[in-house]
Amino acid sequence: MVLNRQCVSQGNMNNSGFVVILCWLLMQGKSSYGNLPQEVGIVEQCNGYCFSVVKPFLDHCAQLKEAADANNKLKDKIYTLDGTINNLQSQLLNSGAETKNLDEKIKEKDEIIKEKAEQIKEKVEQIKEKVEQIRDKDTQITDLREQVKMMYRVLAEKNDQLSKINQTSESLSGWTVIQRRFDGSVEFNRNWRDYRDGFGDPRGEFFIGLKKLHMMTAAEPQELYIDLGDVNGTYRHAKYDNFIVGSEEESFVLKSLGNYSGNAGDSLREHEKAKFATDDRDSPNKCVHSYDGPWWFNGSSCGKSSLNGKYFKEGIADGRNGVSWGHWNMFDYKLSLTFVKMTIRPRSPQT
Ligand SMILES: *[C@@H]1O[C@H](CO)[C@@H](O)[C@H](O)[C@H]1NC(C)=O
Ligand SMILES: *[C@@H]1O[C@H](CO)[C@@H](O)[C@H](O)[C@H]1NC(C)=O
Ligand SMILES: *[C@@H]1O[C@H](CO)[C@@H](O)[C@H](O)[C@H]1NC(C)=O
Ligand SMILES: *[C@@H]1O[C@H](CO)[C@@H](O)[C@H](O)[C@H]1NC(C)=O
Repeated sequence: MVLNRQCVSQGNMNNSGFVVILCWLLMQGKSSYGNLPQEVGIVEQCNGYCFSVVKPFLDHCAQLKEAADANNKLKDKIYTLDGTINNLQSQLLNSGAETKNLDEKIKEKDEIIKEKAEQIKEKVEQIKEKVEQIRDKDTQITDLREQVKMMYRVLAEKNDQLSKINQTSESLSGWTVIQRRFDGSVEFNRNWRDYRDGFGDPRGEFFIGLKKLHMMTAAEPQELYIDLGDVNGTYRHAKYDNFIVGSEEESFVLKSLGNYSGNAGDSLREHEKAKFATDDRDSPNKCVHSYDGPWWFNGSSCGKSSLNGKYFKEGIADGRNGVSWGHWNMFDYKLSLTFVKMTIRPRSPQT
């Protein structure tokens, strides 16, 4: 009877597990007799009639068990679904975190890009500054060039003043400058009239004039002193102790030189007795034309010197047309002297 009551109360699903166990025990009792002696007795006693009473109940129990099993399966399924939902939710949460992470990273990158842009801006600013500085330097260099130019001008002026002083000291010492060349500022390839009358600036480059030379040397015996210099600053001289120039009628012939002394070599000797020649009154062998300057040219050989030749600042002539003094460099006429000063003074009575 206890069993019956238990089976009836099986409608309650909350303790279905317990009911199932009871039902199971009952079914066991029906098929096996070894384990539960007290129940064996009940079944034996029941046999015919009892069984017909219990049978529907047992069937019901079986149905209940099936329902319980199905319920359990559903529960499992729900449980599994819950797990899946949890899983999906956590995934969603994770993906949310990841999205947040990405946002964070994008923000960071934006920050870095901003920083870089700032740095680039700075660099551009610096480059601009440098360009400005370079421009400043250019201006400074231009200024310096201008200053250097001015210094050169001042230097030229000082030189000029110095040459005036030199001239004074020369005239005081009795020497008169008759020809001077040192910078190529005056053209020396000139015509007969210019050489006859003189040209240039007595304080700079100039020639005193053949007419004056004739008069001075005719008045009293003169010494001729020739100072020569090359581009490297080497100076030498040649001195003649009886310098006489003829009249215009004599074509200002180099009448006499006298004895030579000095360290430059006697490169004027071959020109003694030669007539003066200019481009418009050239020697028969056209020496003025080939030497680019008037001189007392030897009618057959032209000679060994040409102190009115073309001026070459670098000291090297095109050919034989420079300011030449043959003995200076073993008759290498490519060499052009950059300094010439010819002076005369009345011959002292004792020499
Ligand atoms: C002045 O004379 C000195 C000595 O003779 C010489 O060295 C200098 O070059 C001369 N200066 C000028 C400008 O002629
Ligand atoms: C000046 O010196 C340079 C270098 O020593 C030399 O080559 C040149 O021939 C010299 N010029 C003269 C005119 O002596
Ligand atoms: C040149 O020197 C020689 C001696 O060496 C002398 O006899 C002659 O008179 C000198 N000439 C002049 C113009 O002084
Ligand atoms: C010219 O040079 C030759 C030697 O080359 C010389 O014999 C002669 O006396 C020089 N003078 C004149 C005016 O020709």
